[in-house]
Amino acid sequence: MAAMSALVDPTLATDLARGTPPQKVDALFAYMRRRGQSFYDESVTQLQHALQCARQAELAAADPVQVAAALLHDLGHFLVDEHDETVDFLNEDLVHEEVGASYLQPCFIERLTEPVRLHVPAKRYLCTTDAAYYDALSRASKRSFQLQGGPLSAAEQAEFERNPHAQDAVRLRRWDDLAKVEGLQTPGLERYREAVQSCLR
Ligand SMILES: [Fe+2]
Repeated sequence: MAAMSALVDPTLATDLARGTPPQKVDALFAYMRRRGQSFYDESVTQLQHALQCARQAELAAADPVQVAAALLHDLGHFLVDEHDETVDFLNEDLVHEEVGASYLQPCFIERLTEPVRLHVPAKRYLCTTDAAYYDALSRASKRSFQLQGGPLSAAEQAEFERNPHAQDAVRLRRWDDLAKVEGLQTPGLERYREAVQSCLR
């Protein structure tokens, strides 16, 4: 977690621990604006990816918790500075889903953090159960799939299906995959302020 502590702005850590609800959202959005300018996938910045994912959730008439989870699902990539200009990009699995969910967990409700934690198992689940799903993945997503553990075993699949947040995670995963469209215009972060604030503990 050395990379993570180096990148977490002290203001973000303090405001998430002690700030008022609006200050928490301010700090999170400021951090995302600052750290989200690098590229994870082939065609969109990390901030654009987050905004496109939240937009997909909105277009699917998802509730505010699911929209906020979509917006924040890859915060772990920001926290571990995982993007396409780092030396080890896609050579090592930095378990960004665990990093992001654990970071958010003290201040956000479980219905937000657990789908964040499960969005990589959801990808492995979909790759295991839906042959067409893997074929449609982006180049970076196909490459990371093996690093993330590849297909689920029967026991892992059953365990995933038993998780009460599995369906939310699968929905999130499908929005995630659609959120990589170069040049697509979306609303900005402020549109999601209320949704994110409503998920604070
Ligand atoms: Fe994503």
